[in-house]
Amino acid sequence: MANTNLVILGATGDLTQRLLMPALYRLYQSGYTRGLKITGYAIEDWSKEHFRDHIQEALRTFVSDYKVEDKCQTEFCASLDYITGGLEAGQMKEIGRRVKGSILFYLALPPPLFGAAAVALGEAGLAQTSEGWRRLVVEKPFGTDLASAEMLRKQIHSQWTEENVLRIDHFLGKETTQNLMVFRFANRFLEPLWNSAHIAQVQISCPETLGVEHRAAYYDHAGALRDMLQNHLMQLFCLTAMEPPSSWDAEVLRDHKVEVLRAVVPFNEHTVRSRAARGQYTAGSVDSKNVPAYRQEPGIPVNSTTETFAALRFEINNWRWQGVPFYLRSGKRMASGYSEIAIQFRQVPDALPDGSVAPNNWMIFRLQPQESLNLVATAKKPGMEFATHTVVLTAPYAQEGAKEFSAYEQLLMDTINGNCSHFLRFDEVEWSWRLLDPVLHAWCTGNPEEYTSGSEGPTSQNQLLTAGHSWRPVRMHLEN
Ligand code: BG6
Repeated sequence: MANTNLVILGATGDLTQRLLMPALYRLYQSGYTRGLKITGYAIEDWSKEHFRDHIQEALRTFVSDYKVEDKCQTEFCASLDYITGGLEAGQMKEIGRRVKGSILFYLALPPPLFGAAAVALGEAGLAQTSEGWRRLVVEKPFGTDLASAEMLRKQIHSQWTEENVLRIDHFLGKETTQNLMVFRFANRFLEPLWNSAHIAQVQISCPETLGVEHRAAYYDHAGALRDMLQNHLMQLFCLTAMEPPSSWDAEVLRDHKVEVLRAVVPFNEHTVRSRAARGQYTAGSVDSKNVPAYRQEPGIPVNSTTETFAALRFEINNWRWQGVPFYLRSGKRMASGYSEIAIQFRQVPDALPDGSVAPNNWMIFRLQPQESLNLVATAKKPGMEFATHTVVLTAPYAQEGAKEFSAYEQLLMDTINGNCSHFLRFDEVEWSWRLLDPVLHAWCTGNPEEYTSGSEGPTSQNQLLTAGHSWRPVRMHLEN
């Protein structure tokens, strides 16, 4: 890793303290990034020492297994550098003077600044070099609709080539997400069942108990559809529905994901009502604590119409999935918090010994709180009677005693190694906005339905369901 640098733009901000530095520190501690030189860049006129103290404090707060006496953290902080500067090419030239070799630029900035920062880096001569490689990591959201995403692409590509731009979606760094691909494509027994002949429906859910927290300024402009569905859930959807790739090559994987997005039946103004639902939380109780309504949260306008819950039904027009609904939903302040991809198999034709019909099997990929793979099946109940019951076969993902790496740690290593497989190519972003634009347009008017904090979400989500389907309860019961 000699001569490899990471320059964080927006180094004094929230993302750097909460996620990037803790992830970088843990990588350093594990010996993965020794030799990587990290430089913070931000508008605050701080000394290098002040920046180091600031990061040390952040590590103390945000690294769960932080130990004060750990010599690693002293070493890690002592190796950090800091440059003061804004988003003008003239100011950024200082980076070129101080940082030599290959450079990964990480835009940990507010999204409206992504374009200007990428352009300024290029104008300062930092996007290309003969001294090594140059890469640019761009956080989500990439645009706020199709037109703004296209505009941002143009700005970035005026200075950067597509292969050097890494659009990050941290869900792609989660172990279970990566395992979904391995499990699907490395096991013979699954592929014959992975189609509309055997699968009845798929539910991709990420309910959260958290509210808007300290992110009012961002969230009230984004809402649940842009914050969670357009990126995280649609990526999980693509990985579940895509065709088996002919190789693990990043371009092939991304081609296959785009193919799925292109096969989704588009929304139009008439189908939005039956295929999309939105809600906003009111006061209630979550984890036995009283919580305020969204409109009463600090920084949220009292008449805000931003949705804190969104649900969609995707229909895919291809041979594999015709007739299988994919339901996607996410909401803040719901009854419990977890993320899962739940695949429901069709019913078996024969009745059970007691004359009832066997419940459908589910295969559930749990991303959190604990990563696991679960198969909900019917088995004989032990005993003299020939009765049946539901059993859940669970394969926990984490290995006893093995070190776990967070999604950011996984993805940061990929950015340094130049592995683009778990990053979004522009056409993935483009097709996701293309699909969601009509929904966003329809939601410009009217109000989201209210739902009580700590509940299952708005009742209008039920309108999306095909006959015979029901949402899996948010209060966690794997077997349902
Ligand atoms: C972020 C969203 O991208 O993902 C947040 O902006 C959300 O609103 C978060 O809470 C969920 O990610 P995780 O990994 O905490 O489930």
